[in-house]
Amino acid sequence: MRVGIAADHGGFDLKQTLLPWLQAHGFEIVDFGAYQLDPDDDYPDFIIPMARAVATGDVERGLGLCGSGVGASIAANKIPGARACLIGDIYSAHQGVEDDDMNVCCLGGRVVGASLAIELVAAFLAARFSHLPRHNRRLLKLQALEVRST
Ligand code: RB5
Repeated sequence: MRVGIAADHGGFDLKQTLLPWLQAHGFEIVDFGAYQLDPDDDYPDFIIPMARAVATGDVERGLGLCGSGVGASIAANKIPGARACLIGDIYSAHQGVEDDDMNVCCLGGRVVGASLAIELVAAFLAARFSHLPRHNRRLLKLQALEVRST
């Protein structure tokens, strides 16, 4: 699976933690930065290009990292086709994909530790959308809203 990853300074250390894990587990990674720690950088500059890549299908899933994961989630959800959520528990990490077709998982680098972050990412990337009629129906209602607002 091709996975995009993006982080501001608040998520930079977590990105450095996740990159080798993703590589070791066979994921093809597209790194949207930040490529160096800059305490003055802005999360939209990294998260938006990553979310666009998810929306166009250039990458199948995205990981958005900032200090809390909140800004990353808000930014990614501005892009039609990106379905992002701040994730802090294993259930939501996979159920968000299975039921809601979440395609961007946002994590707070100042909130979750490395071990939990890896488990959350593993659950997110292993999960698949169910395509059950009720979930398709709900997704279509969201996609209709995106068409109207663009
Ligand atoms: C940056 O200091 C911090 O505000 C940002 O990483 C993120 O937490 C925003 O949601």
